[in-house]
Amino acid sequence: IALTIGFAVFGYLLGSVSTAVVVCRALRLPDPRGEGSGNPGATNVLRIGGRLPAALTLVGDFLKGTLPVLIARAVTDDMAAIAVVGLAAFAGHLYPLFFGFRGGKGVATGLGVLLGWSWMAAALTGGSWLLVAMLTRLSSFSALMAFLLAPSFLWWTTHSAVLAGTMAIMTLVLYWRHRSNIANLVAGKEKKIGL
Ligand code: G3P
Repeated sequence: IALTIGFAVFGYLLGSVSTAVVVCRALRLPDPRGEGSGNPGATNVLRIGGRLPAALTLVGDFLKGTLPVLIARAVTDDMAAIAVVGLAAFAGHLYPLFFGFRGGKGVATGLGVLLGWSWMAAALTGGSWLLVAMLTRLSSFSALMAFLLAPSFLWWTTHSAVLAGTMAIMTLVLYWRHRSNIANLVAGKEKKIGL
């Protein structure tokens, strides 16, 4: 249990590093929390600063999900600990300790966590995101569709109820974080992205 708590703290702290804010500060771009959609995530950094800063944000947010899970997996094969560390990194991204608890919506970090759990489930989820994004050019809608499928993908590839259940919790929270996007989608006002 001490190990699990230690991993959870580590995951939460790493998840709390808001890549979008760090990248925008380093490149002297406006704070993403005060521009565009106000979300510190790759989609909004793409709006504010273009492709390179968005790609850096995406990679950083992704890795802070993957790394703690892989480190935990190298040390233990306790599924609960491996699940909790991923959930903690995801929570850190959404409610970052270092950035006034004003974090992102969890798409990149959630996918990163998923990669740490199962590369096949991550590939299927990422592929779903890409397919819907290419068809609709709606970043939020693509994420909502991909994460709806993610718990099932994870169940098929791992047969771990702990991991699939944890993923389902992450999907529910991700939907909650996208509530303004969902309202815009329903009203036909959600902004498209150029891919
Ligand atoms: O699902 C993508 C999400 O990050 C949308 O971001 O900035 O369009 O609210 P944004």
